Amino acid sequence: MSSTDALTFWNGVHGARPAATAPRPNARLTESVTDLPPGDALDLGCGSGGDALWLARRGWRVTAVDVSSVAVERLAALAAAHGLGERIGARRHDLRESFPDGRFDLVSAHYLHTPLELDRATVLRTAAHALRPGGRLLVVDHGSTAPWSWNQDPDVRYPGPEEIAGRLALDPATWTVERADSPRRTATGPGGETAEVTDHVLIIRRTG
Ligand SMILES: C[S@@+](CC[C@H](N)C(=O)[O-])C[C@H]1O[C@@H](n2cnc3c(N)ncnc32)[C@H](O)[C@@H]1O
Repeated sequence: MSSTDALTFWNGVHGARPAATAPRPNARLTESVTDLPPGDALDLGCGSGGDALWLARRGWRVTAVDVSSVAVERLAALAAAHGLGERIGARRHDLRESFPDGRFDLVSAHYLHTPLELDRATVLRTAAHALRPGGRLLVVDHGSTAPWSWNQDPDVRYPGPEEIAGRLALDPATWTVERADSPRRTATGPGGETAEVTDHVLIIRRTG
């Protein structure tokens, strides 16, 4: 699948929804980052931008990237409207082809799932290398299928956090797994319905 197709596909997904005026941050982000001192953050696959806005409000300088120009343009407009334009750089990247420059204290990848081809191990390994010493990579994946998910394939497999960490093949002398678990939570779907879902949560800290 070409980059143009990824752009078309994800612009279709985002464009089909009304632009969010107050997107909410992800629960695993808020629970993991609340106690961290602000610095430079990178949000991979930022979508409607709830995480980027929450981080910026807490003093982080955020680079928020997505393959979708609709998502990126909406987030840039929202950041400006909320007086956070100086703190959020919304950039279009197809992570299969390019990765933002810079060094980060936090790289967050929440539900970076796509039906199109994406070598996530390479993207996440690149993210781990872009951390400053002391910085953290936070990867949150689906661990179960919500009733409203676009993917209702009963054979879908969700690799656990330890398996994801193994695929990154990071040198333990430089990167340490701080958290790898599969907590459950009550999630709210697009129509306001709720369901219990599982997240796969992985936090890797760069120590050297
Ligand atoms: C399931 S959504 C998650 C969005 C957001 N992180 C959240 O938690 O709500 C996946 C996001 O990744 C983006 N994405 C998919 N493939 C991508 C790629 N190759 N490069 C950059 N972003 C991509 C999509 O546009 C979409 O916004």
